[in-house]
Amino acid sequence: MIQRPRRLRGNAILRKMVRETRVDKSSLVYPIFVREGKNIQEEISTMPGQYRYSIDRLPYKLESLKKAGVDSVIFFGIPDNKDEVGSGAYAEDGIVQKALQESRKQFGAELYLITDVCMCEYTSHGHCGVLCGHDVDNDPTLKLLARTALSHVQAGANMVAPSDMMDGRVLAIRNELDAHGLTNVPIMSYAVKYASGFYGPFRDAAGSAPSFGDRKSYQMDFHNRKEGIKEALTDVEEGADILMVKPALAYQDIIREVVEQVEIPVAAYSVSGEYAMVKAGTKLGYVEEERMIAEMAIGAYRAGASIYLTYFAEELARLMDAGVIG
Ligand code: PBG
Repeated sequence: MIQRPRRLRGNAILRKMVRETRVDKSSLVYPIFVREGKNIQEEISTMPGQYRYSIDRLPYKLESLKKAGVDSVIFFGIPDNKDEVGSGAYAEDGIVQKALQESRKQFGAELYLITDVCMCEYTSHGHCGVLCGHDVDNDPTLKLLARTALSHVQAGANMVAPSDMMDGRVLAIRNELDAHGLTNVPIMSYAVKYASGFYGPFRDAAGSAPSFGDRKSYQMDFHNRKEGIKEALTDVEEGADILMVKPALAYQDIIREVVEQVEIPVAAYSVSGEYAMVKAGTKLGYVEEERMIAEMAIGAYRAGASIYLTYFAEELARLMDAGVIG
C-alpha cells in the first residue's frame, strides 16, 4: 500500500495557508531608552544596535519605527541625577515626561506611547522603591509609583506599565488615575516578572543595577509556576487591563498558563539578555540572527502572547513584510 505523508506537503503558498500561528505588526512594542542631553545617540555596549537617545534625536528613531510599521513604544528613562526617593521618576520635567511631550508634539495620535513605571532608574541605590533600612518599603513606594504613573499620563502616555513588583501597585495606580478622571487609560502590568539574569544588559543600559543586594525579595523565583499564576490573578483583580510575562524566552510555559487562566490580553517581553545573546552569537558566527529572532518571537506567540515587546521590533516587522513569519 502506498503510504501518504503524515504532514501536508506543498509549496510556500500552501505552507503559509496552513500556518497555525498568525502574527502582525500591530502586536509589536519597541522598548526605547531616553536620556538627558543634546544631540546624543549613544550605543549601549552590551546591546549593539540599541541606543540611548536624547530628546532631540528621539523623533528620528520614532519616524523609522513608524516607517517599518511599528506604532507602539515603551519608554525607559535615564535621568542625570538620582536620589534616595527617585524624584526624577515623577518630576514634571523628568526625562520620560519630556520624551512623551516631544513625541506627542511630533506624532500626535500616530504613535501609541507606553511607559515603564518603576523607580530603579531614578534611585541612587538602584532598587525599585524607597528603602527602609536595606529593604524596599512597599506601601510608601506605592504612593510614588501612582504619582509617577499619573505624571506620565498627564505628559501624554496612552498606557502605563508598572514593572516594580510591589504588592498592590496596580490598584494604587488605578485609583490615582481614576481620581483624576483618567478612567480610560489602561494599565499593562508586569504581572509575572521573574528575578532574571536576562536583565543584565538592561541594567547596564539604564544604569539601574542595585548598589547592594538584589531584587529577589520582590521579583519572582524562577522555580515557581503557581506563584506566577497567583501574581497574574491578583493583578487582574486589582484592575490590570493587560498582563505581561517577562522574560519571554525561558518562560513560555508561564505565558501559556497565564493565557489559559485570564480573560485579558497577555504580553510577552523578550528582554535585553535575549537580545544580547542573539547579537553575540551572530557576531561569533554561531547562529543566524534572523532565524533566531523569528523563532523566539513565534515561540512567544505560539504560547499565546498577543503582544510582543522586543528590541527586534523593526527586524520582525521586516520579516513579517517579507512573509518569513506572519
Ligand atoms: C525596571 C525594569 C527592568 C526591565 C524592565 N523594567 C529591569 C529590572 O527589573 O531589573 C528589564 C528589561 C530588559 O532586560 O530588557 N524595573
